[in-house]
Amino acid sequence: AFSLTPQKNDFLECLTDQFESSYSVIYTPNNASYASIFQPDNLRPASTSPYKPLLILTPFYESEIQAAIYCSNKLGIQIRVRSGGHDYEGLSYTCENPFVVVDMRNFRSISIDSEEKTAWVQVGATLGQLYYALAQKSRTLAFTAGVCPTVGVGGHFSGGGYGMMSRKHALAADHIIDAILINANGQVLDRKSMGEDLFWAIRGGGGTSFGIILAFKVDLVTVPETVTIFNISRTLEQNATQVVHRWQYIADKIDENLFIRIFMISVSSPTNYRNRTIAASFESLFLGRTHDLLPLMQEKFPQLGLVEKDCLEMSWIESVLFFAGLHNQPLDALLSRTPQASFTQNYFKGKSDYVRQPIPMHALRRIWGFLNEEAENMAELQFSPYGGVLNSFSESETPFPHRSGNIFMIHYVVRWDREGNAESERYINLIRRIYSYMAPYVTKSPRAAYVNYRDLDIGMNNQGNNNTSYEQASVWGFKYFKNNFDRLVRVKSQTDPLNIFRNEQSIPPLPEST
Ligand code: FDA
Repeated sequence: AFSLTPQKNDFLECLTDQFESSYSVIYTPNNASYASIFQPDNLRPASTSPYKPLLILTPFYESEIQAAIYCSNKLGIQIRVRSGGHDYEGLSYTCENPFVVVDMRNFRSISIDSEEKTAWVQVGATLGQLYYALAQKSRTLAFTAGVCPTVGVGGHFSGGGYGMMSRKHALAADHIIDAILINANGQVLDRKSMGEDLFWAIRGGGGTSFGIILAFKVDLVTVPETVTIFNISRTLEQNATQVVHRWQYIADKIDENLFIRIFMISVSSPTNYRNRTIAASFESLFLGRTHDLLPLMQEKFPQLGLVEKDCLEMSWIESVLFFAGLHNQPLDALLSRTPQASFTQNYFKGKSDYVRQPIPMHALRRIWGFLNEEAENMAELQFSPYGGVLNSFSESETPFPHRSGNIFMIHYVVRWDREGNAESERYINLIRRIYSYMAPYVTKSPRAAYVNYRDLDIGMNNQGNNNTSYEQASVWGFKYFKNNFDRLVRVKSQTDPLNIFRNEQSIPPLPEST
């Protein structure tokens, strides 16, 4: 049993011994603003976590982070690092043991060099802030990363970062050319001083295990002045199943300027929740004009029946707003750090899979059956296409191994809006049943998963002081990283042998390294 108060005071005392500040960077439960600073993104892990942070540090300076690492080492109290707070399992703001949070929200400056086409982006910036800053500079300067503008750079880039341009421009992590990180000894390192092994590890291996990352330098990408988007739905009566089935044969092979993802959804009518419509929604970004898109679709994917009036031409940044559900809103809507209504006050659980052989029709039909079970809240499967430039990376070039041979990734999501164990169990049970049903149709040995869609169902480390063995961590580690897991373990053993930076799915050091 832990006694909360002395530990809290110990950490607080230790921190305030290390630095004095004339401004507020430390929030304890005694502060009126603690709750609003804490504000969890996903209420599910927050509702079952035994502890809230003993304190939250929102540093402005490296020295404040160094102090937190020093105190963590000295007192044996864990640090959880939060950038945008979107971790699916809440690992940046929950813990099985007493802990503190280093919240990077104030490290959010973005400095763009339009000539060199690079940017230094601090980890506490959100994707929306980065996209906004790029749009201020030029209509054609852009970056390849996720869709949701409130996602944080820190977690997202270090875990990969997949988005609407990934078939053309790969992942956010593939564009990192330098980084600043504070290691377990409190040293501030850049690419040169951290060395290529550690620099490799933080470009897809997750930030958590290796230190506290402060900023990334990235290569930007160039997009056409005008892009084309569409978002069209097909119901069962409109042959949704056949069209989805057919999509699997073109999704990864079609022109890499064209990205079409599918949402398999079952939506209830606002007036009668029992009145449900099953639909496959095809959402697409084409890096070009409508007059080039239509013949391409006609040749490669006529089954969708795309016509000119389905297509909208706009600038790339307007497409960012569109895919974020902010169509026609002013650009500064991208600056908000608060997730939109559908993501707030929400309980959710996600999982992921990779598909290398088309899923047969009968299995697609069964998916509709699962989705139709839920009368009130939301269950969906997103199919995101791979191929294109993703195929040109070897599996070991970065820790993110999901490259050539994958047709698409499945992202399973269930969301609900009420507290209560029965509610949670129902939805978690549903997503687990779908996942279990899908086993024959997805990758095996390992059943691959995307680390940014973190899922503790696939395996977990021991918590507290019980060291996690390499074998135990391999259970989840090979799923996220395939054979790169071994190299990540070697990097961890060299950079953080005492396992200062750890969580339920952090890379373990080998015992002989301590
Ligand atoms: P958060 O702050 O919770 O960090 C995530 C993990 O990284 C935690 O374990 C944390 O400790 C660690 N970490 C964070 N900052 C760190 C730092 N500075 N140094 C060291 N470790 C650090 N993904 C995708 O590829 N494409 C997409 O389109 C989307 N869309 C999307 C929408 C929504 C609504 C959600 C909730 C999530 C996504 N994601 C996604 C998944 C997203 O990429 C993933 O959750 C990221 O890890 C989130 O990064 P944050 O910094 O926001 O999270």
